[in-house]
Amino acid sequence: AHDGGRPRGRLGFRPIAPVPAATDSFVVPDGYRWQALVRWGDPLFSARDTFDPATLTPEVAERLFGYNCDYVDVLEDPDGRSATLVVNHEYTNENIMFPPAATPEDLDRQRRVAMASHGMSVVGLYRSRKGKPWAYRPGARVNRRITASTPFTFSGPAAGSALLQTSADPAGRTPLGTLNNCAGGTTPWGTVLSGEENVNQYFRTAGTSAADKRYGFADKATTRGWEAVDPRFDARTPGFENEPHRFGWVVEVDPQDPTAAPVKHTALGRFKHEGANVIVGRSGHVAAYMGDDERFDYLYKFVSKDRYRAGGRHREKNKQLLSAGNLYVARFHGDSPVEEITGTGALPSDGAFDGTGEWVPLVLDGVSQVPGFSTEEVLVFTRLAADAVGATKMDRPEDVEPNPVTGRVYVACTNNTDRGAAGKEGATEPNPRVTNRNGHVVELTESGNDPRSLTFGWSILLLCGDPATTTGTYFAGFPPEKVSPISCPDNVAFDSAGNLWVSTDGQPGTIGYCDGLFKVPLEGRERGHVQQFLSVPRGAETCGPVVRDRDEMVYVAVQHPGEDGQWGAQQSFFPDYVAAGTLDGGRWGGPRPSVVQVWRD
Ligand code: FEO
Ligand code: CA
Ligand code: CA
Ligand code: CA
Repeated sequence: AHDGGRPRGRLGFRPIAPVPAATDSFVVPDGYRWQALVRWGDPLFSARDTFDPATLTPEVAERLFGYNCDYVDVLEDPDGRSATLVVNHEYTNENIMFPPAATPEDLDRQRRVAMASHGMSVVGLYRSRKGKPWAYRPGARVNRRITASTPFTFSGPAAGSALLQTSADPAGRTPLGTLNNCAGGTTPWGTVLSGEENVNQYFRTAGTSAADKRYGFADKATTRGWEAVDPRFDARTPGFENEPHRFGWVVEVDPQDPTAAPVKHTALGRFKHEGANVIVGRSGHVAAYMGDDERFDYLYKFVSKDRYRAGGRHREKNKQLLSAGNLYVARFHGDSPVEEITGTGALPSDGAFDGTGEWVPLVLDGVSQVPGFSTEEVLVFTRLAADAVGATKMDRPEDVEPNPVTGRVYVACTNNTDRGAAGKEGATEPNPRVTNRNGHVVELTESGNDPRSLTFGWSILLLCGDPATTTGTYFAGFPPEKVSPISCPDNVAFDSAGNLWVSTDGQPGTIGYCDGLFKVPLEGRERGHVQQFLSVPRGAETCGPVVRDRDEMVYVAVQHPGEDGQWGAQQSFFPDYVAAGTLDGGRWGGPRPSVVQVWRD
């Protein structure tokens, strides 16, 4: 069927023009419409839970959709008319959420509301038919909030370790809450993985150990001040020295079982986890690919000991797959002479930034492979173990995701302005630009296309930037003058044809445009033809893209709209666009991070 001369079911679109950074609009291509599907403060359990940021209590906040949505997936039921939405809530922006606290009691309230607005949401959806926009269902059976206080279970070799024990949990098996949940991935067995990323910002610690320094924990008051509300956020408190070790994991949530404790997987290591994405290999073993989002940090892979089995009756067994197996870190080797890697992005004489790589084992079948580290130490202090084996320092590896059509793995390296700075590592073939403000995307092919492989080939797909103003851009050989400008790639997704979709975080500060979502074909003559699909309002990053091309629908999270504003002088009025500071029939005159659905009109 055709509509206006364009084939349906392919998500055809004419790319939008880049949107200047000050613009407070959500922009979609001609022929598409958008709507906020669920916003910060929308009630998940009862319409009687009213949203008023000035008076919101923590008890109510934990019954509302949380703040700063990041990872998103829409798990559709077979009829296409009901679904389960799963969303991360990475952090909070108290400066625009609340009026300045007038009393110590009000400050205490705001801190507890912030805790309740972290974590994750699971939300039931319904619609009249496929291709039509969804509505969310307050009180649906699956609806759930996971917050900074929800009980979790540790799995894997470090569960119960002395390094994870506290006076409140002497067994070291039941941590409370999840924090800074950034990107994620949906597993082949229907659960959702979520990465605990910048968890150092929540804790005051002694700050003296090598691990504290490597992970960014310090002996200073936190900006959020939670340590004044709950002593476990002050790791100097006797009995809570290990509390920070209980964060920085990949967590797994079963959205179909609202009563099951979510799990923190120690077998996948502890670092600033952006997310984790799983693929099933031909052997049935699964691999999870993971980035540690910090300048000069690493790319990791976990391979399961056991095999995946298809079918719902194997669900509980499949939920154990990430509890036992091997953990590796990546070491890249360029194939061009080092003097040809000039730091400008100019291609070396072989015409490509490319080469081979190896997966260096950190843990094999539950046993440390790193001299001087016990298995528990490798898993709790994974960064230190990876340092010891000489892993390759990357430019902030964020989302790392296998293409379900080809098996190739895509690594979004968002940026690294310190590359080449005094005392820091300079350009390398996999990170070939110094002062890398705009980031790049690496394409990785496992040897034999087997996710268990110990070696891989790689090449750089994109060196991002605005070709009109940035030197050293590269778009897989596609003519730069024909692409949409793109900077700071963060999250990646794939459509049913295996095209890459990239969402960005940081374009306003680099190329002067609002962040957005971009399609990148990977095959044939269109390979590298970056085309912008949508743009988010000022101050926001674009997260959690979900691309359902057969349905002609796209979903994104609009995270931290108006982040740099302040209460009462908001820089964004997204998504309701009503007068500042007013509540109007459920609409709020201040920015509300939201999951947005886009559909073909
Ligand atoms: Fe939370 Fe690395 O972005
Ligand atoms: Ca090369
Ligand atoms: Ca991110
Ligand atoms: Ca992704």
